[in-house]
Amino acid sequence: MFSEKLLLRLKHSSGLTVLTGAGISAESGVPTFRGKDGLWENRKVEELATINAFQKDPVQFWKFYNWRRNLLKDVKPNLGHYALVDLERIYPEFHLITQNVDGLHTTAGNKNVIELHGNIMRDKCSECGYLNTEINLELKEPPKCTKCDKLTRPDVVLFGENLNNSDLSKAQESSATCELFISIGTSSLVEPAASLPLSAKGNGAYLVEINPEDTPLTQFVDEQLKGKSSKILTQIVMILDRMR
Ligand code: APR
Repeated sequence: MFSEKLLLRLKHSSGLTVLTGAGISAESGVPTFRGKDGLWENRKVEELATINAFQKDPVQFWKFYNWRRNLLKDVKPNLGHYALVDLERIYPEFHLITQNVDGLHTTAGNKNVIELHGNIMRDKCSECGYLNTEINLELKEPPKCTKCDKLTRPDVVLFGENLNNSDLSKAQESSATCELFISIGTSSLVEPAASLPLSAKGNGAYLVEINPEDTPLTQFVDEQLKGKSSKILTQIVMILDRMR
């Protein structure tokens, strides 16, 4: 199933960088964005998760986010997440970049996670920036900041907003300097995350994609591992435990 080339890279690389998307959490029961269940009340995430939607219609915006938070409250990491904890143990230079806001990598036990799009289980004040982790899952109306009483929003990067500069720099640096890069469960459509695997490959990394479907990235990868992340990542860890 894995090529000789990949086995050699897995065995000898010191630096592994991984990028994850919604697909890694799909087997935990979290709906992906652009899959069949990727719509909410027939509206696209690109319409709902925007800074414009928050400013224009905070009630509708918060209905969407409250629904997503409630979906996540009892969700557990799956074997794919746990395999990435093993990979962090195995590789001295391991970087995990995620587009997911569900926090499941940290729950699973990964230590160094770059949450490029933030974390949905935190509120951030739209005025003073105060971060609040004591969120209310039974919202009756858009929540207000406990410090300044202005409207808060989830601490996620919305469409129309920039990523945190320091997180993006760390992600770019770890992509450009690794020997092996694995892109897992992402449709590779949303920038700047979508460019990270290409930057890795451009700088000499061996580029692998794990996804049951083809994506715009597929044509550029050195190796496509077509299937579900839990199964493939578990196999990789088993092989590595024998080899390294
Ligand atoms: N294992 C691996 N991949 C899977 C699995 C699985 N079990 N199930 C689904 N996938 C793949 C799908 O084939 C798809 O390519 O996961 C991908 C999910 O794609 P998206 O829903 O587009 O999610 P993602 O790429 O993370 O979206 C990027 O878009 O809306 C924004 O901010 C949001 O971070 C998100 C960003």
